Amino acid sequence: MGTLIVTGGAGFIGANFARLALAETSSRVVVADALTYAGNLESLSELEGHPRYLFVKADIADREAVRALYREHRPSAVINFAAETHVDRSIDDPSAFVRTNVLGSFELLDGARHYLATLEPRARQGFRLLHVSTDEVYGTLGATGAFSEQTPYAPNSPYAASKAGADHLVRAYHETYGLPVLLTNCSNNYGPYQFPEKLIPLMLLNALEGKPLPIYGDGLNVRDWLYVEDHARALALVLERGGAGETYHIGGRNERTNIEVVRAVCALLDEMRPAPGGARERQIGFVADRPGHDRRYAIDPSKIERELGWRPAETFESALAKTVRWYLDHEDWWRNILARGYKPVRIGELKGRSPR
Ligand code: NAD
Ligand code: TYD
Repeated sequence: MGTLIVTGGAGFIGANFARLALAETSSRVVVADALTYAGNLESLSELEGHPRYLFVKADIADREAVRALYREHRPSAVINFAAETHVDRSIDDPSAFVRTNVLGSFELLDGARHYLATLEPRARQGFRLLHVSTDEVYGTLGATGAFSEQTPYAPNSPYAASKAGADHLVRAYHETYGLPVLLTNCSNNYGPYQFPEKLIPLMLLNALEGKPLPIYGDGLNVRDWLYVEDHARALALVLERGGAGETYHIGGRNERTNIEVVRAVCALLDEMRPAPGGARERQIGFVADRPGHDRRYAIDPSKIERELGWRPAETFESALAKTVRWYLDHEDWWRNILARGYKPVRIGELKGRSPR
């Protein structure tokens, strides 16, 4: 019920979430997005014309735009997906990361603080601001263990540091002003509508086009994979039932090395669309490692499982097959991204520019 503002809703996870929120709640859904290179209205085209859906172009780091969102739409909840999200881009140029992820999150929080002062006590109590964060704020793990909600922050990339900065502000706004915030940290997502700079869609598109599949370092870095629709359901649950001021970890208990993931993508493509030249694994090549490359991430999701009863519906195998099928069936979606000028080339390598 009421109005839900979804910032960054033209991006990968936000678009999946906005679709779920419209289908499974009776809320009005206002997607607010600056439409950076990663924002894509084609990911929301099915929602156009829905009587409870509205798109607003807005930059979360623009104070007046944020204040207008609160003033004009009077939300009962805000969920913040808006961010610069690609680690390799953050290595080449961290400035947009600090602006959107730190300053933008601050403007959303501070805008909420001022907006809440205009509400009746009951509406104020019911309001929630859910900030979507990442497991990368915790830095890297060794061979064993998993991040819990108590793990100390130790971000290693400019992206992770900017997300950590935002998380600290979220916490501070709860402690200082009593803002009813929720914080989630999740592991690597995959699924429909992911921009093809990230590992799985990048490998999929390169594999389809017969191009090299560049694995950073030895390919044994581990990520803990979460299907985006499982993530969206977890977020809906946190918004509905999470305790104000609480943090929840969301992860699918699906740790895989990068080389395992890329081999699995190749095998699925070979099965669904065999290549004339034979198995696509032969396109795999090892390239220079990412500077500061975190070795292993793993999320302990036992709090959200125990307290909110969340469980992922998919296994890595079932959801990866769905994802490969989606990209094969939605060639227009990714071809339009390539046509708009996105080039899947290596970035963030710091070639000859590292002070180390
Ligand atoms: P994405 O890069 O696909 O989309 C980001 C969206 O934010 C885009 O639509 C973009 O236009 C918008 N945006 C960027 N700057 C903006 C600004 N200043 N104002 C308004 N909108 C702006 O990202 P995603 O993968 O969907 O990630 C969503 C959130 O989830 C991010 O906060 C990210 O840190 C977090 N997260 C993502 C993953 C993952 O695997 N994708 C994992 C953990 C956490
Ligand atoms: P990515 O999708 O960029 O997510 P993140 O860095 O936020 O975890 O990368 C996932 C993993 O895949 C990471 O260990 C880096 C690696 N990787 C490659 O080996 N090759 C690539 O071309 C890319 C984009 C990533």
